[in-house]
Amino acid sequence: MRRFLKRAALVLVSLVVLGFAAGSCLSWWFAHATPGQYRHVFNFIYRHPAGAFTHEPNRLLVETVATLPPGRALDIAMGEGRNAVYLASRGWDVTGFDVSDEALRQANVRAMKAGVKIRISREGSETFDYGRELWALIVLSYAFAPVRDAAYVRRIRDALKPGGVVVFEHYIRSPGMGDNVGMPDREQLPRLFSDFEIRRHEEMEAPSDWQGGRKAPLARLVAVKRTAY
Ligand SMILES: C[S@@+](CC[C@H](N)C(=O)[O-])C[C@H]1O[C@@H](n2cnc3c(N)ncnc32)[C@H](O)[C@@H]1O
Repeated sequence: MRRFLKRAALVLVSLVVLGFAAGSCLSWWFAHATPGQYRHVFNFIYRHPAGAFTHEPNRLLVETVATLPPGRALDIAMGEGRNAVYLASRGWDVTGFDVSDEALRQANVRAMKAGVKIRISREGSETFDYGRELWALIVLSYAFAPVRDAAYVRRIRDALKPGGVVVFEHYIRSPGMGDNVGMPDREQLPRLFSDFEIRRHEEMEAPSDWQGGRKAPLARLVAVKRTAY
């Protein structure tokens, strides 16, 4: 009996160590993968969703646009179009892009079913041409876009019309959450968006749109581009 218990304990410890190692490898990979690698991984994820994410539009986005007049909107790393289609159905003129072909295929189907038109392209957030003063709204919903880079945030700012709005929600980069380019550090967003007017900023444990709605450390931001700089 004692030998059995010893063996069982050994197996248990090995499983925990292996699980931890696999989790660490996965976190490391997510932090260092190239857009081409993400494309393959997300193609796989969208083909085998297993209920990992919601198809409802992001709640912060819904609350924010409730009081905005429709205009041109850009959905960065749009995934399978839940937010883009929602915006289009409220009269917004929506462009979205993503690296995953499968995401875009599903976004097209979702738009057709909803009877709306959206413009989509297969692009990376690093290379997309954001233009200047084009957008009334830019959506970064769990987007893989390099927001910790102040130069990238300036590109977003320049691409917005004066008075244009950014809606951001993503996990906060933290030991339990792993890492990807889209995750800000704790309390980093107000600094990155310091030359915007910040209408809303929250950091809290809350049910997320990914990971099956499990509670996670989330950062939310609604910021408005000032009319003069
Ligand atoms: C967590 S999902 C979020 C999707 C969508 N924004 C939403 O909220 O449902 C992240 C998305 O980023 C895309 N992605 C990953 N790397 C990217 C990159 N470098 N440029 C653009 N999209 C990227 C993935 O294909 C995936 O659709």
